[in-house]
Amino acid sequence: MTSDYLVEQVPTSDVLVLRMSVLRDGTPSQDPRYAEDDTEGSVHLGIQNGGVLIACSTWLPRPWPLDESAPATQLRGMAVAKHLQSKGLGRILLKAGIRRAHSLESTYVWARARDNALYFYERNGFATVGDQFIDEATGLGHHLVMIEV
Ligand SMILES: CC(C)(COP(=O)(O)OP(=O)(O)OC[C@H]1O[C@@H](n2cnc3c(N)ncnc32)[C@H](O)[C@@H]1OP(=O)(O)O)[C@@H](O)C(=O)NCCC(=O)NCCS
Repeated sequence: MTSDYLVEQVPTSDVLVLRMSVLRDGTPSQDPRYAEDDTEGSVHLGIQNGGVLIACSTWLPRPWPLDESAPATQLRGMAVAKHLQSKGLGRILLKAGIRRAHSLESTYVWARARDNALYFYERNGFATVGDQFIDEATGLGHHLVMIEV
Protein backbone atom coordinates (compact mmCIF):
# COMPACT_ATOMS: atom_id res chain seq x y z
CA MET A 1 0.00 0.00 0.00
CA THR A 2 2.66 2.49 1.05
CA SER A 3 4.66 2.17 -2.18
CA ASP A 4 1.89 4.11 -3.95
CA TYR A 5 2.52 7.27 -1.94
CA LEU A 6 4.45 10.21 -3.31
CA VAL A 7 6.33 12.74 -1.18
CA GLU A 8 5.76 16.29 -2.43
CA GLN A 9 6.45 19.84 -1.35
CA VAL A 10 3.24 21.24 0.16
CA PRO A 11 2.08 24.71 1.25
CA THR A 12 2.22 25.95 4.85
CA SER A 13 -1.57 26.32 5.01
CA ASP A 14 -2.11 22.58 4.43
CA VAL A 15 0.52 21.64 6.99
CA LEU A 16 -1.06 23.81 9.70
CA VAL A 17 -4.33 21.87 9.51
CA LEU A 18 -2.62 18.52 9.99
CA ARG A 19 -0.28 19.82 12.70
CA MET A 20 -3.28 21.15 14.58
CA SER A 21 -5.15 17.86 14.59
CA VAL A 22 -2.15 15.63 15.35
CA LEU A 23 0.49 17.67 17.18
CA ARG A 24 -1.61 20.18 19.09
CA ASP A 25 -4.40 17.83 20.13
CA GLY A 26 -4.54 17.64 23.94
CA THR A 27 -1.72 20.14 24.45
CA PRO A 28 -1.78 23.64 26.00
CA SER A 29 -0.78 25.27 22.69
CA GLN A 30 -3.40 25.76 20.04
CA ASP A 31 -1.02 27.55 17.70
CA PRO A 32 0.40 25.18 15.06
CA ARG A 33 2.72 27.73 13.42
CA TYR A 34 6.50 27.83 13.64
CA ALA A 35 8.49 31.04 13.23
CA GLU A 36 10.48 29.34 10.43
CA ASP A 37 7.49 28.14 8.40
CA ASP A 38 8.04 30.54 5.53
CA THR A 39 11.67 31.52 5.97
CA GLU A 40 14.22 31.00 3.23
CA GLY A 41 15.37 27.41 2.98
CA SER A 42 12.38 25.94 4.86
CA VAL A 43 10.28 23.39 3.01
CA HIS A 44 7.28 21.34 3.95
CA LEU A 45 7.27 17.80 2.61
CA GLY A 46 4.06 15.85 2.71
CA ILE A 47 2.03 12.94 1.42
CA GLN A 48 -1.42 13.53 0.00
CA ASN A 49 -4.25 11.15 -0.67
CA GLY A 50 -7.21 12.25 -2.73
CA GLY A 51 -6.16 15.89 -2.38
CA VAL A 52 -5.97 15.66 1.42
CA LEU A 53 -2.66 15.95 3.27
CA ILE A 54 -2.18 12.82 5.39
CA ALA A 55 1.46 13.22 6.48
CA CYS A 56 3.62 16.31 6.92
CA SER A 57 7.08 17.41 7.95
CA THR A 58 9.07 20.65 7.90
CA TRP A 59 12.78 20.83 7.05
CA LEU A 60 14.96 23.85 7.65
CA PRO A 61 18.64 24.72 7.59
CA ARG A 62 19.85 24.94 11.21
CA PRO A 63 23.04 23.69 12.85
CA TRP A 64 22.98 20.59 15.04
CA PRO A 65 23.46 22.06 18.54
CA LEU A 66 26.38 19.71 19.33
CA ASP A 67 28.37 20.58 16.18
CA GLU A 68 27.48 24.04 14.98
CA SER A 69 30.35 24.15 12.47
CA ALA A 70 28.72 21.72 10.04
CA PRO A 71 25.77 22.30 7.71
CA ALA A 72 22.68 20.58 9.07
CA THR A 73 18.94 20.25 8.62
CA GLN A 74 16.39 20.37 11.40
CA LEU A 75 13.20 18.36 11.07
CA ARG A 76 10.12 19.81 12.72
CA GLY A 77 6.41 19.04 12.80
CA MET A 78 6.50 15.39 11.78
CA ALA A 79 2.91 14.16 11.81
CA VAL A 80 0.78 11.44 10.23
CA ALA A 81 -3.03 11.63 10.28
CA LYS A 82 -4.23 9.69 13.32
CA HIS A 83 -6.18 7.04 11.45
CA LEU A 84 -3.18 6.28 9.20
CA GLN A 85 -0.39 6.02 11.77
CA SER A 86 1.85 2.94 12.03
CA LYS A 87 1.33 2.02 8.36
CA GLY A 88 4.72 3.18 7.12
CA LEU A 89 3.87 6.72 5.98
CA GLY A 90 6.11 8.37 8.56
CA ARG A 91 9.04 6.26 7.45
CA ILE A 92 8.50 7.18 3.76
CA LEU A 93 8.43 10.87 4.61
CA LEU A 94 11.42 10.68 6.93
CA LYS A 95 13.53 8.86 4.34
CA ALA A 96 12.60 11.39 1.64
CA GLY A 97 13.57 14.31 3.87
CA ILE A 98 16.87 12.67 4.77
CA ARG A 99 17.64 12.08 1.07
CA ARG A 100 16.91 15.74 0.37
CA ALA A 101 19.15 16.87 3.27
CA HIS A 102 21.92 14.62 1.96
CA SER A 103 21.57 16.15 -1.53
CA LEU A 104 21.93 19.61 0.06
CA GLU A 105 25.14 18.42 1.71
CA SER A 106 23.88 18.52 5.25
CA THR A 107 26.09 16.60 7.64
CA TYR A 108 23.28 15.98 10.11
CA VAL A 109 19.51 15.75 10.27
CA TRP A 110 18.23 16.40 13.77
CA ALA A 111 15.02 16.97 15.66
CA ARG A 112 13.55 17.66 19.07
CA ALA A 113 11.61 14.42 19.35
CA ARG A 114 8.66 13.70 21.58
CA ASP A 115 9.50 10.87 23.91
CA ASN A 116 6.54 8.83 22.67
CA ALA A 117 7.97 9.03 19.14
CA LEU A 118 11.58 8.17 20.05
CA TYR A 119 11.20 4.57 18.93
CA PHE A 120 10.12 5.77 15.49
CA TYR A 121 13.32 7.79 15.09
CA GLU A 122 15.58 5.12 16.57
CA ARG A 123 13.99 2.51 14.32
CA ASN A 124 14.98 4.73 11.39
CA GLY A 125 18.62 5.14 12.34
CA PHE A 126 18.58 8.21 14.59
CA ALA A 127 20.54 8.34 17.84
CA THR A 128 18.95 9.81 20.98
CA VAL A 129 21.28 12.38 22.50
CA GLY A 130 21.38 14.00 25.95
CA ASP A 131 18.84 14.36 28.71
CA GLN A 132 15.11 14.76 28.57
CA PHE A 133 13.70 18.29 28.35
CA ILE A 134 10.16 19.59 28.45
CA ASP A 135 8.92 21.36 25.34
CA GLU A 136 7.26 24.65 26.21
CA ALA A 137 4.44 24.53 23.64
CA THR A 138 3.26 21.00 24.39
CA GLY A 139 4.44 20.38 27.95
CA LEU A 140 5.69 16.97 26.76
CA GLY A 141 9.03 15.28 27.44
CA HIS A 142 11.42 15.43 24.50
CA HIS A 143 14.95 14.35 23.55
CA LEU A 144 17.27 15.50 20.81
CA VAL A 145 17.69 12.93 18.04
CA MET A 146 20.26 13.01 15.24
CA ILE A 147 21.38 11.05 12.21
CA GLU A 148 24.48 11.64 10.09
CA VAL A 149 23.46 11.73 6.44
C1 LIG B 1 5.54 9.42 14.98
C2 LIG B 1 4.86 9.33 13.61
C3 LIG B 1 5.25 10.53 12.76
C4 LIG B 1 5.39 8.06 12.93
O1 LIG B 1 4.77 7.91 11.68
P1 LIG B 1 4.03 6.53 11.34
O2 LIG B 1 3.56 6.57 9.95
O3 LIG B 1 3.00 6.28 12.41
O4 LIG B 1 5.24 5.50 11.55
P2 LIG B 1 5.66 4.27 10.64
O5 LIG B 1 4.47 3.43 10.39
O6 LIG B 1 6.44 4.74 9.49
O7 LIG B 1 6.57 3.55 11.72
C5 LIG B 1 7.89 3.22 11.59
C6 LIG B 1 8.27 2.49 12.86
O8 LIG B 1 8.09 3.28 14.03
C7 LIG B 1 7.16 2.66 14.91
N1 LIG B 1 6.34 3.70 15.50
C8 LIG B 1 5.71 4.67 14.87
N2 LIG B 1 5.11 5.49 15.75
C9 LIG B 1 5.36 4.99 16.96
C10 LIG B 1 5.02 5.39 18.27
N3 LIG B 1 4.29 6.49 18.52
N4 LIG B 1 5.45 4.64 19.30
C11 LIG B 1 6.19 3.54 19.07
N5 LIG B 1 6.56 3.12 17.84
C12 LIG B 1 6.15 3.86 16.81
C13 LIG B 1 6.39 1.70 14.06
O9 LIG B 1 5.87 0.63 14.81
C14 LIG B 1 7.44 1.24 13.09
O10 LIG B 1 8.29 0.31 13.71
P3 LIG B 1 8.54 -1.14 13.08
O11 LIG B 1 9.25 -0.88 11.78
O12 LIG B 1 9.36 -1.80 14.12
O13 LIG B 1 7.19 -1.72 12.89
C15 LIG B 1 3.32 9.22 13.73
O14 LIG B 1 2.97 8.06 14.45
C16 LIG B 1 2.69 10.44 14.39
O15 LIG B 1 2.30 11.39 13.73
N6 LIG B 1 2.56 10.39 15.73
C17 LIG B 1 1.92 11.48 16.48
C18 LIG B 1 2.70 12.80 16.40
C19 LIG B 1 4.14 12.65 16.78
O16 LIG B 1 4.49 12.10 17.82
N7 LIG B 1 5.02 13.18 15.90
C20 LIG B 1 6.43 13.18 16.14
C21 LIG B 1 6.80 14.46 16.83
S1 LIG B 1 8.53 14.48 17.25
